[in-house]
Amino acid sequence: MAPLVDIANLRVSFPTPRGRVEVVKGISFTLGRERLGIVGESGSGKSMTGRSILKLIRPPGRVTADRMTFDGIDLLAQSERDMRAIRGARISMVMQDPKFSLNPVMTVGEQIAEALVTHKKLPRRQIYERVIAMLEAVRINDPARVAKLYPHEISGGMGQRVMIAMMLIPEPDLLIADEPTSALDVSVQAQVLDIIDDLVRDKGMGLILISHDLSLVSRYCDRILVMNAGTVVEECVASELQNAKHPYTRGLLAAMPTLDESREELPVLDRTQWAGT
Ligand SMILES: Nc1ncnc2c1ncn2[C@@H]1O[C@H](COP(=O)(O)OP(=O)(O)O)[C@@H](O)[C@H]1O
Ligand SMILES: [Mg+2]
Repeated sequence: MAPLVDIANLRVSFPTPRGRVEVVKGISFTLGRERLGIVGESGSGKSMTGRSILKLIRPPGRVTADRMTFDGIDLLAQSERDMRAIRGARISMVMQDPKFSLNPVMTVGEQIAEALVTHKKLPRRQIYERVIAMLEAVRINDPARVAKLYPHEISGGMGQRVMIAMMLIPEPDLLIADEPTSALDVSVQAQVLDIIDDLVRDKGMGLILISHDLSLVSRYCDRILVMNAGTVVEECVASELQNAKHPYTRGLLAAMPTLDESREELPVLDRTQWAGT
């Protein structure tokens, strides 16, 4: 079977006063219906790689590749109009901060419904039922009440769950999650990632999880690409990360709190300690 995503020699460049600078320097990878992590420090080209797949890099940014296909579709040959039919419906992207992605003047329910009707024509009643079911799937209690709230009335963690609901309600084949929990408290991060993980497995989707956090990608992905300065310096199965060879990866590993320490075992903060501060 052909891979879901097949990328060869992807390059992204931007003009600077000193000439064009490549920020992604000829990377290649494939993705099946699996969970791929892209990890690396800030500025290594992770987001540009994710955005390239959706053709979201605008001029003067320039994207070239020898091959870039999604489910057999040659993305390089798609027009902007073609891409609009693919974005959301077949490939979705969740970004870092829901505050910038949610529309402040629409209720949560209206926004999730809109994400669905943009791609599928359905009777009103069914749309409402799917919105409520989707809110339940992202573990929101009392979904009928939450559907009527505006973005400023919900927490950051709930906002990100609403974003995930919006992105997944059209049932895409691939989810690109770019630092989806970086703006959230650590305690909420794991909840949000568990939800993404469950939904991706349930629906047999492909996932690209982009993060600067090696422990996070090693926990939630099957395979990992390590990026540094626009290149892939290491590619490995998540369970074999400990045996990584490249000095850059070894450095990232060394900077991590111990790998075998699971998140549940992190100490729970005693809230009373902070009272009054
Ligand atoms: N519009 C732009 N013009 C010039 N350089 C850019 C632009 N957008 C991003 N870059 C540069 O591209 C590099 C890679 O960015 P990015 O993919 O966002 O990194 P990451 O997501 O790994 O933190 C960074 O060095 C960034 O400064
Ligand atoms: Mg980024």
